[in-house]
Amino acid sequence: MPTLDVLVFWIAEFGILTFLIWACIYISTLSFSALKHAPFVPTRVSTKPVIARARPRKDQTFIDLGSGDGRVVITAAKEFGLNAIGYEINPVLIFLSKLRARIAKTDVQFIRADLYDAGLCQRPALYRIHHQLPPIIYIFLLPRYMDHLGKKIIRSCPPGTVVISYGFVIPLLSDKLYTILKGKPFPTYYYKL
Ligand SMILES: C[S@@+](CC[C@H](N)C(=O)[O-])C[C@H]1O[C@@H](n2cnc3c(N)ncnc32)[C@H](O)[C@@H]1O
Repeated sequence: MPTLDVLVFWIAEFGILTFLIWACIYISTLSFSALKHAPFVPTRVSTKPVIARARPRKDQTFIDLGSGDGRVVITAAKEFGLNAIGYEINPVLIFLSKLRARIAKTDVQFIRADLYDAGLCQRPALYRIHHQLPPIIYIFLLPRYMDHLGKKIIRSCPPGTVVISYGFVIPLLSDKLYTILKGKPFPTYYYKL
């Protein structure tokens, strides 16, 4: 039977080790993002009301373009029963997201891809969907992505697709804007094709 001071030592050692592992993961995430010019900033508001405003239907496909640590897609799957998919360029974030999804006991697909190459709505992985409802696409990306993504969404996604953009407008979809959710630090814009 270990004595009390040995136990305290073990607990302290475990705490320090856990902290060091997380620090390594965090630093490698930031370094990768800096090298790829793809900053990781998680959605700061509660994601449930943001998704709810799009009135999702069970089993509808929900795609986060640049899914970060997976928090938005995990909420979509867990709270709304959606077929959730995250595209992410950073392998460390994909690893973290899969871990989070496993802990949350949710079935979410994470696809490591560069959004500039990804087929979005045409990608075969999406055809795991149970019925042919148009998808909901979630975006929290820098304004420099918006024109490229706007074109890609118009080209590849079916009518009825809902696009949620947290923080920034998508100029090419301006005539499809149907509601705005006010919020701090950012509003959220909703478009329907
Ligand atoms: C602002 S964060 C948003 C994260 C998550 N969607 C959220 O709301 O919490 C943007 C994410 O997009 C990813 N990203 C940036 N450029 C990308 C690209 N070209 N292809 C795939 N992912 C990208 C970054 O690695 C980062 O995790």
